[in-house]
Amino acid sequence: MPLELPKKSPSALNQVVFLVGFMGAGKSTVGRALGQRLNWLFEDLDDRIERREGRKIEEIFRDSGEPAFRQAEHRALRQVLDELQGGTARVVALGGGAFVQKDNADLLEASGARTVFLDAPVEELWQRCCRQASADGIERPLLRSKQQFRKLHAARRAGYLQASVKVETSTRSVEEIAAEIADRLELQEIETRTEPGEVE
Ligand code: S3P
Repeated sequence: MPLELPKKSPSALNQVVFLVGFMGAGKSTVGRALGQRLNWLFEDLDDRIERREGRKIEEIFRDSGEPAFRQAEHRALRQVLDELQGGTARVVALGGGAFVQKDNADLLEASGARTVFLDAPVEELWQRCCRQASADGIERPLLRSKQQFRKLHAARRAGYLQASVKVETSTRSVEEIAAEIADRLELQEIETRTEPGEVE
């Protein structure tokens, strides 16, 4: 399908950053910290999907299957990109599979928006996800066996490497990672927001 994206002005594109990477990479945690540092909005694409669909991610997977989830994810991403013009600066955390779907990667590339790959060794990603599952009750439909986790990670890594920049997250604090992203992408803190409240 041809990409039909309204052309965004350079200023709109300088005011959005997408965080990508595997499950457990810290996309939401780092995104929230980066948003706070810059006074930008923070948004988690999975939250937008849940609001739009009126169901939790795990329910979409369970009741409608992964292809239906991927379609919902793509629609939500399109909506984010459509809203950029004239909107408030924002950091968007994508779900772990979003950027490795070709239609999403193409959409992001055509938009010209910058993407940041949060990288970590697969063993550490697995440990983080297991900790989050037991401590915070975070359910991930694709967190099954360690073997499947490693296999999926290996299959996706080349896709993540297509992001505009790669940032190491292993053994670093959330604040250090957020500072590196702000610095490398020369993101500017804003004084006031034009929209009230956080999207989250
Ligand atoms: C997915 C990762 C999840 C969520 C969905 C699918 C994936 O997001 O989008 O369960 O395909 O890796 P997180 O990366 O935030 O866990």
